[in-house]
This record gives sequence, structure tokens and C-alpha cells, in this order.
Amino acid sequence: MCGIVGYIGKRKAFPIILEGLKRLEYRGYDSAGIALYDDSDIKLSKTKGKVADLEAKAKNEINTDGTIGIGHTRWATHGVPNDVNSHPHYSNSGDLVIIHNGIIENYDSLKKELLKRGYIFKSDTDTEVLINLIEDVKINEKVKLGKAVQIALNQVVGAYAIAVFDKNKPNEIVVAKLGSPLAIGIGDEEFFIASDASPFLEYTKKAIYLEDEEMAVISRKKGVKLRRIKNDAVVDPYIQELKINLEQIEKGGYEHFMLKEIHEQPNAIKDTYRGRLLAKEGIVKMAGVDDNLERFLNANKIIIVACGTSWHAGLVAEYVFENLAKVPVEVEYASEFRYRNPVITDKDVVIAISQSGETADTLAAIKLAKSKNAFVFGVCNVVGSTISRETHAGAYTHAGPEIGVASTKAFTTQITVLTLIALKLAKEKGTISNSEFHLYLQELELIPEKVKKALKSEKHIKTVANTYKNAKNCLYLGRGYNFPVALEGALKLKEISYIHAEGYPAAEMKHGPIALIDEQMPVFVIATKKGHYEKVVSNIQEIKSRSGKIIGIVTEGDEDVKNLADHVIEVPETIEFLTPLLTTIPMQLLSYHIAVMLNKNVDQPRNLAKSVTVE
Ligand code: F6R
Repeated sequence: MCGIVGYIGKRKAFPIILEGLKRLEYRGYDSAGIALYDDSDIKLSKTKGKVADLEAKAKNEINTDGTIGIGHTRWATHGVPNDVNSHPHYSNSGDLVIIHNGIIENYDSLKKELLKRGYIFKSDTDTEVLINLIEDVKINEKVKLGKAVQIALNQVVGAYAIAVFDKNKPNEIVVAKLGSPLAIGIGDEEFFIASDASPFLEYTKKAIYLEDEEMAVISRKKGVKLRRIKNDAVVDPYIQELKINLEQIEKGGYEHFMLKEIHEQPNAIKDTYRGRLLAKEGIVKMAGVDDNLERFLNANKIIIVACGTSWHAGLVAEYVFENLAKVPVEVEYASEFRYRNPVITDKDVVIAISQSGETADTLAAIKLAKSKNAFVFGVCNVVGSTISRETHAGAYTHAGPEIGVASTKAFTTQITVLTLIALKLAKEKGTISNSEFHLYLQELELIPEKVKKALKSEKHIKTVANTYKNAKNCLYLGRGYNFPVALEGALKLKEISYIHAEGYPAAEMKHGPIALIDEQMPVFVIATKKGHYEKVVSNIQEIKSRSGKIIGIVTEGDEDVKNLADHVIEVPETIEFLTPLLTTIPMQLLSYHIAVMLNKNVDQPRNLAKSVTVE
């Protein structure tokens, strides 16, 4: 939610900030703005719309030569997306300027106090309250900007990653973090600030990721000085060497990031199991699990917390863990779990799944689980993300940066990590035989090639997409391991094409949704050979007799469904619990091509953001 970028150094800040905002646009894209110092004053340019709109506007509006500046791309929380509510925001004097990613929950009471003291507010944002609070502290306590930020933040409840600078001290930027991510890139006499490292990768690979409740004063001459916001303790910066490169965050010839990421899945899955899945030796090696094996083996139950697509991966994992490792699993929406006083004990293992590693509800669920002494294990994609640091141990998915807002390779790589864990526990517990274990490892190793094969149906999938692109509603059905894939298929279609879609366990259809079926209703049915095949075929018969349009996702060579369905899309055969890794592929491609045919903004669907750092 919202992307922030800043620069202080020898180069012109404008192109660096602008390019950086484009890379962070996945985090929010309803408005954008920039503030630059131009030798005497701070000048702002901001607009409703995309970073490209800002680029055109700013060039005509402000002097773009400054070497210090901050920029923002917004996902609105307080106040509608418009020019006024866009960041950056000035303080009342015009001396200070701020960008903010997060939510100040007590902004209303702070605002009332500031109004009493004569402050006026132009926008509806919580951020304008914060910058005026900082100004108020600075004036009344006669302190420097860094101290004023610190004192003000100690009065704030909520989440923030902020960058602030003062026109009277244009040689430093003050940044702070709680709950929202903030990275500082360290160059040669220049410094970069960003929500993730992508805006500064081409300039430096050295970065400091701020921890929660840390702040930094970044000065041209003195470099980065870190402190704790609460107790003012000085912190030694930990400078990381980044491994990711620029090509990984570019489109590489594909029309959209989403399509690129769908096609990256064979390699992404391989990268996920590389060094962990040793099929020949019959070993699954995962440091985070190996080091905590007793906690896993003695778990009363496993509780999985996640949101959205990651929650769907958790549902697949529930079936896999229970079937292979015979351990009870509960899968919880993090947003519900965090508020319902769940029964958790120190014998439970909580697995938090998150691509971004920044999702606010998942983070809150983790904190709750930790407060009840559960062991918390993270499955994240973004290295160094807040969730990966907040959990006791974890395993990265190693999918590479996922930039398209609709999650694709994150889903399949999350399933891969969770399957590896389930296999390892099953082996240790003896709930599967040695020969089964070996067979499963070998089959998992073949999945990337089978995903490649599933991707080859893209041309055919495009024709199917063309047939159903004007549908108003769609149903997605699956059973067992493929019920969560039906949910995921429906979510993908909804979020990027805005067509209403619902996923159901196939047998639930007759308890209500069957009433919806008529000749206008496309029904996507996952009917792979392994797992409840005959029962799903009966469900298909029920749809057919009510004139529904059937699109079957079937195992290669299937004839029975072909005879019943209007269309079939084939996926290679595999063992039952690995089928979601293959049946997901046509779901992703169908949604992608329908959205493209409808001229939707596939990588940046309306109202969404890649990383949901607010409740
Ligand atoms: C859907 C999608 C979202 C995310 C959800 C959780 O395509 O991307 O539903 O899965 O917001 O995000 P993470 O995994 O970053 O915690």
C-alpha cells in the first residue's frame, strides 16, 4: 500500500525518484507526487492518476534540477484519490514536507489538538496531521528535525514508513518505520530511500532495511545514523549485499508482468526446491525446519494464517499435511484470526504464508500467536521482509520478485515449500513409507517440466477465453486438493477482469449454487483423473442437464469429460497431491487472457495493491 522513494546525493533526484515510483507502482497507483528542493524552497507536484501523469505534469510545474527529493505513489486510505490528498504534504509553514506509507490510527484526536492550536488542513489525510504534529513539536520544543520526528512518532498509533525533509536543512532526510517497509540504499556519497530495493538496484546493491520502531537521519556528509524511536538508543546499521538484479524486475519481452510471472513458474518452482529436494539421496533439507524439527514433530496442530491467494495455498497445504503427515491443520484468514481470541498453545505450530512478507493482518496474527507462545514459521517470498524477520524460523519461496498485482508464481512456489515440509514431516513420523517418500520426491522434481507442458496449451486457452470473455458470472468447481484451486481460479478472474466468479467444492453445488446454472453460466470444473474423478464427472452431468457451459480442466488423454464438456484443457498427469501445481496454470492463463481481451489493466487492477500493509 503506497510506494515511497527518496534521494539525496550528487545526481538530479527527479529521474531517480520518477523511475523508482514506476517500479513501486504495484504498491498503489491512484495518485502520485514528488517534492524537490530547488536551492531556496521545496516545490511539489502531485496528481490523481499514474506516475506517467505525474511525469508529464511535474516537468511543466517544477524545477527538476534538485539533488534532494521524495516521491510517493498512493493507494488511498484516508481521503479519496485526488490531487490534494496525494503525497507529499507540506507542513503549515511550508518548511517541512513528508511522504507516508501506512495509517495513523489516532489521527483524528491528534488533528483536533492541532486544530485548537491554529493549524489548518488542506487534505483529508492522516499524513498531513503527522507532518504538522512534527512541525508543532519542532517549534515548541526547539529541537532539530530528527528529534521532532522522534517525539511526534512516540505520540502516534498506527503504521508508517515516512521520509521527511526541511527546506532549511536541505542536506538531510529523516526516515522512520513501523509496520510498513523501508529500505535505504547506500551509494557513493549518495543515499536512496524506498519501500523495496527495486528503485535503487541499478545504483547500489548495498542496503539497510529498517526494523520496526527504528528511524534514521540520512545526511550527505555524515551518512546514515540509526536510532530506536522509543528509547533513543543508537543502532549499528546492518548493511546487506543484495543478490537480486535488474533483469529480474523487468518485463523481459512479455506484454505484462503477470504473463511473465506465469511463464516463470517452471524455473520458480525449481528455484524453490533447489538444494532442498535431493531426490537421489532421498532427503528433504530445509534449515528452518531441520533446526526446529522437534517443534514440528510434537505439534498438537498446525495453524496456517494468511490472506488472499496465500490463504488458498494454505488450504492446499491443509490437505497435504493431513494426508501425508497426519497432523491436524487449521487454515485461518489472518484478518479473522487476529481478532477472535483463538485457542493457541505453546504446543502449536503457526505457519504464516505471505508473498510480500508485509501483509498487516498476517503480521498481526503472527504477533498474537507469539504472545501465546506458539512457534511461528514464515513462508515468504520477499527476502528480509517484516514477516520473515518477525517469525521464529522460516523458508523463503525464492520465486523472484512478483510485480503483477495478481499473485501467480507466489502461489505455486508456496505450495512447493509447504509440500516439501509435509513430506519431510511425513518421512520423520513414518506416516508414509520410504518407497512412497522416494516416489513423491521424484515426482515433485518432474513438476517444472510438467508446468512447462501445461503452459503450452496457452493458444487453446486463448480461444476458450475468447468464447467466455463476455460472461457476467462464472463458477469454478473442484474437489479435494483442487477445491482451493477453484477458489484461486475465481479470485484471479475477479481481480483482473472484474467478472463476478465464485469457487465451490464441486459437491456443494447442489446445496445452492446449482440454482444459478443456465445457458449463460460458464462453469470451470477441475476434473483430473486422480481424486474423486467419477464424482466430479457426476457433477458435470448435473451442470450439463441444466444447460450450463462446461470447461473441464482434465488429465491428458481424458475422453469421458471431453464427451460431456463444451471445452477441455489438458494438464499432464501427476500424483494427486501435486495436481494443484498443474491445474492452477490454465486458471491463471484464462483469467489473464480474458482480462487482456477486455482491455483491463492486468498488472494494476483497480482498487488493489500488491502489498496490503493496512488492515
Ligand atoms: C491475489 C493477491 C492477494 C494476496 C494477498 C496476500 O492475487 O495477490 O490476494 O495474495 O493480499 O498477500 P501476501 O501473500 O503478500 O501476504
